[in-house]
Amino acid sequence: MSNKPIRRPGPVESGHAPPRPRRVSFSWADTPLHWVPGDPFTTHTVNVLHLLLPAGERWFVHVYKQVLPYIHDDALRADVIGFIGQEAMHAQAHDEVLPHLREQGLDPTPYTAQVDWMFEKLLGDRTLPPGRPRWWWLRERVALIAAIEHYTAFLGDWVLNADALDRAGADPTMLDLLRWHGAEEVEHRSVAFDLFAHIDGAYARRARTWALAFGALMFLWQRGIRFFLANDPTLDRGPGGTAKASLMDFHRRGRAGLLPGTGALLRSVPGYLRRDYHPSHECSTAQALAYLASSPAARAADAAVGKDAG
Ligand SMILES: [Fe+2]
Ligand SMILES: [Fe+2]
Repeated sequence: MSNKPIRRPGPVESGHAPPRPRRVSFSWADTPLHWVPGDPFTTHTVNVLHLLLPAGERWFVHVYKQVLPYIHDDALRADVIGFIGQEAMHAQAHDEVLPHLREQGLDPTPYTAQVDWMFEKLLGDRTLPPGRPRWWWLRERVALIAAIEHYTAFLGDWVLNADALDRAGADPTMLDLLRWHGAEEVEHRSVAFDLFAHIDGAYARRARTWALAFGALMFLWQRGIRFFLANDPTLDRGPGGTAKASLMDFHRRGRAGLLPGTGALLRSVPGYLRRDYHPSHECSTAQALAYLASSPAARAADAAVGKDAG
């Protein structure tokens, strides 16, 4: 494999503006535990996002703040600063769902403690000694974030188009959280990849960190689903108290459009590993911005900003 840097294609869509955070807030008082009615498997599969994202996105912010001095492109720096603002808000919004889960008898602390350890210690700053190893480690983490962002954009695109969730009667507040976040993931989908290309861009690193990110996400996700199903106080787990969750459950929900399809997920893999890959060739910024213009939470956030400015 060549270590030749990837050429930064630049924004494909015209009218590029740096992403900006929207200071949203959500009230969870009326959201039921199974916010996809009668479907705890779908509910908890998506709920894993609330466990992974707060620690994960705070880690993005932490790593990116260290990279800022190495960015020698004003437009990219503005994009990264906007990205940092959006991810910090995403982490906070998902974190605010956790007390609601606790009130309903589902305490996620045993799982989130492990996720926190992974991001703060295992993927933290002191994993390697200072000097060249730390610089290698910083580039490695920037590449990891680019790989993860391939999947957050994939999920964002999916949820913006997941009409089956509306038809299933999913809670509108939860759908707005997921679609506001998903739309911002689509909006800023090129930033992490452009940053990786700017400071490194080696294909071997892209491929290696993709494998690591994909494996870790799959491992953490299935553990999160099992955790929720094993601890949901409303579920009858039968003899032995074991939680049932299988790949077939996931596949069936994917075919129904309630979760991402297994085929679409697998097809997204070769996309990221193509040498001419760039995130701007995937998803629709226009669709993301259209959702953000209609999202109740994003509209309320913009109205509050307008009021403050007025
Ligand atoms: Fe995010
Ligand atoms: Fe993101």
